[in-house]
Amino acid sequence: MTDTLCYLDGDYLPLAAARISPLDRGFLFGDGAYEVIPVYSRRPFRIGEHLARLQYTLDGIRLPNPHTAAEWRERVERIVAAAPFADQSVYLQVTRGADDKRDHAFPPGVPPTVFIFTAPLTTTPDSVRAAGVAAVTALDNRWLRCDLKVVALLANVLARQHAVDQGCAETILLRDGFMIEGAASNIFVVKDGVLLAPPKDHRMLPGITYDVVLELAAGHGVPHQVREIPEAELRAADEVWMTSSTKEVLAITTLDGRPVGGGVPGPLAQRMHGWYQRFKDEVMRRG
Ligand code: PDD
Repeated sequence: MTDTLCYLDGDYLPLAAARISPLDRGFLFGDGAYEVIPVYSRRPFRIGEHLARLQYTLDGIRLPNPHTAAEWRERVERIVAAAPFADQSVYLQVTRGADDKRDHAFPPGVPPTVFIFTAPLTTTPDSVRAAGVAAVTALDNRWLRCDLKVVALLANVLARQHAVDQGCAETILLRDGFMIEGAASNIFVVKDGVLLAPPKDHRMLPGITYDVVLELAAGHGVPHQVREIPEAELRAADEVWMTSSTKEVLAITTLDGRPVGGGVPGPLAQRMHGWYQRFKDEVMRRG
């Protein structure tokens, strides 16, 4: 992995050779934005949407975008082409750069730090997909701009570790009695054949996979509602799914130690997984 090519501030170099300043504001303050883009057969999936969300985050943290969308694509394509694996997860990050001192306020005239690297896409083993995964709940103690994909992820890190400590795959975050999202995923609920999704607002990350799932639901005539989901509805759900660029659509079959629905992936989760795979294949074939 460490000899794969990465991009850092204008240079292409082996990942192991990349160096940044300890005064970088990403390191000191978590002052930056990032994206994770899945790549199938060396083709980035929904890169336009990922780059639009990056722009949204950069606008939200008042950091000028150092590159046009075309420049981003060109850099990502070069990293993807050089990797020795075809299915990848591309990570890109922009921070507010390294000043010569530590001061919270924005440093004038400091160029941003731009970093891109790729890793093999880790897919969910069939046995795990067939059984579904376990999740726990926790109170959401993050800030009120969870719609921004920023590198300051400590609350998400602690929430995810809370799941791992209990042998679970994800922590579902609850705020003011409502289900918000997972530590690193969006969450869907199915009740009586209706797919429910929480609304995209400042409390959750507007997932690219979330959008694909809702498009597929609409396209296949699945009844669905985008609205607040009270905790009680989460606990009474027939199905609960987590979605993300790397997990795709994954059924949660145990919540806080109790089975979700029948305790196995539900019928709609299985159909959505199939539609998602077909959709991906079609998009990748079209290019
Ligand atoms: N995380 N919500 C949170 C808090 C996330 O971190 C993610 C993804 C999602 C799903 O977004 P998308 O469908 O666009 O991947 C929702 C990425 C994968 C990560 O941080 O590694």
